[in-house]
Amino acid sequence: TEVGLPVIALFYGWFLTKKSVDCLLEYYKSFLEDLQKRPLFLEETISTFTPGDQKLPPILDIYFSRSKFSGGRNLLHCTANFTDYGQTPGAANYVKSSGLGRAFKLQLTALFVTPRTVGARVKLSRAQLPLFNFDESVSEPTTGDPVTPDPGSRAHVTLGCAPNVEPVQTGLDLMDILRSIEGDEKPSITLNMDLGKLCCYGKGRWMLDLTKPIPVNSLFSGFYA
Ligand code: A2P
Repeated sequence: TEVGLPVIALFYGWFLTKKSVDCLLEYYKSFLEDLQKRPLFLEETISTFTPGDQKLPPILDIYFSRSKFSGGRNLLHCTANFTDYGQTPGAANYVKSSGLGRAFKLQLTALFVTPRTVGARVKLSRAQLPLFNFDESVSEPTTGDPVTPDPGSRAHVTLGCAPNVEPVQTGLDLMDILRSIEGDEKPSITLNMDLGKLCCYGKGRWMLDLTKPIPVNSLFSGFYA
């Protein structure tokens, strides 16, 4: 009888349940609506989108269209391992030991926005961390003081990307902000929002540590399309 060949996915990760996706997208939308009303935010961020006195597009239009994402608008996930259909080394062993189909609660601890991406930072638990397979030092710049990021610091859920930006940029943007923070850079602007303090680290890069982390439910699985 035919047993079928094992297939390695494009990537593995924690996929939010439908209920958590609905909640988080609502939350994300109201966050963007709030940002839209903040002149200091718009001056710093939106000015990087359009030159001069052109009419500025609403921030909701820039970041909320998620139609070109893998799985479309209604899928939110935290990538654990980008295996590229088996092109990356160790993918087959990873799949064997990853325990697909297990349910996890993820804690979202911060939101971040740059002119390119919006994401939610994920604080991985001790059980989740071994599944996260990223060499975070790869995104280190070659100049300046090397800062070794904590394992799992790149973990995030991509919420939105500006037009013509690929979702892989979100993790790089997060690492870039964390480097500024770890390098003891003080925020140039801070805005008090309902969710916490939104701090600007220059060049339109913002981070908000949530006063109250958001728990979301997820299933560890692969994405194949
Ligand atoms: P992220 O995890 O930041 O959201 P795509 O649709 O472009 O093929 O990407 C599918 C998912 O895999 C995205 O969610 C994306 O980013 C992630 N991803 C894409 N390319 C890479 C890469 N080279 N390294 C790590 N993650 C990637």
